[in-house]
Amino acid sequence: MKTTTINLDEIPSTQDYAKSLAENGAPEGTVVKATTQARGRGRLGRRWLSPPGGLWFSVILRPVSRPSEITGLTLMAAVSIAEAVNSVTDVKAGIKWPNDILVGGKKLGGILTEMTAEMNRVRYVILGVGVNVNFNTAILPHDLLMPATSLEEETGREVDLDGLLEACLVNLNRDYEIFRENFAEIISRWKALSVVIGQNVVVSQPGLVISGIAVDIDKDGALLVKDSEGIDHLVHAGDLSIIR
Ligand code: BTN
Repeated sequence: MKTTTINLDEIPSTQDYAKSLAENGAPEGTVVKATTQARGRGRLGRRWLSPPGGLWFSVILRPVSRPSEITGLTLMAAVSIAEAVNSVTDVKAGIKWPNDILVGGKKLGGILTEMTAEMNRVRYVILGVGVNVNFNTAILPHDLLMPATSLEEETGREVDLDGLLEACLVNLNRDYEIFRENFAEIISRWKALSVVIGQNVVVSQPGLVISGIAVDIDKDGALLVKDSEGIDHLVHAGDLSIIR
């Protein structure tokens, strides 16, 4: 996949911008990056605060996949981005299932995968990546769902945003190929970065809450949770909290 990056200043959301490009036929590998987003989106329709100094971008992908395989792309992106952060800085970023990038229990970034599909065929995926880089998260409102951090706070210095974007794109490129050819490798790298396996967790889904120990993720990326009665639950989606 050849990437071409479109650099923008302030836009509502790189997701929406990339989606309109994709609708107009933009090729796979088109990257939309913004300095700030006025209406950045997180998972589950949440807002995503995007001040200057962060890395906010979306990539158009056109995988030849079934819609059910797209969860795997989210896991893949979490691996690519956590590994990029770990290679460019000396922080130790990990992954909270499915796609939160954490450092020391605080949220550093996240992935948002939005898909447009027909019946059994994916038309395109907009893979959105947000990483808190060069700003202090104290400027963010205090009603965030979980404590946030940034690379500047973790490293005590400014991190080269373009260098980090480049590392992210190199990794995404490499891992997109691995995603298609050997998804088991993505799963095993995901497990190596996981901060969830072995922890007590609560997973909330609309109308259902599952609590227990996160034991594993399966070959498709679903989380296996063993509850206090020893019953296994395979969780495909939801909001996860680690209970310490
Ligand atoms: C999450 O953890 O909830 C996912 C956050 C994803 C944020 C990124 S920033 C770039 C792209 N544009 C958006 O509006 N959202 C994603």
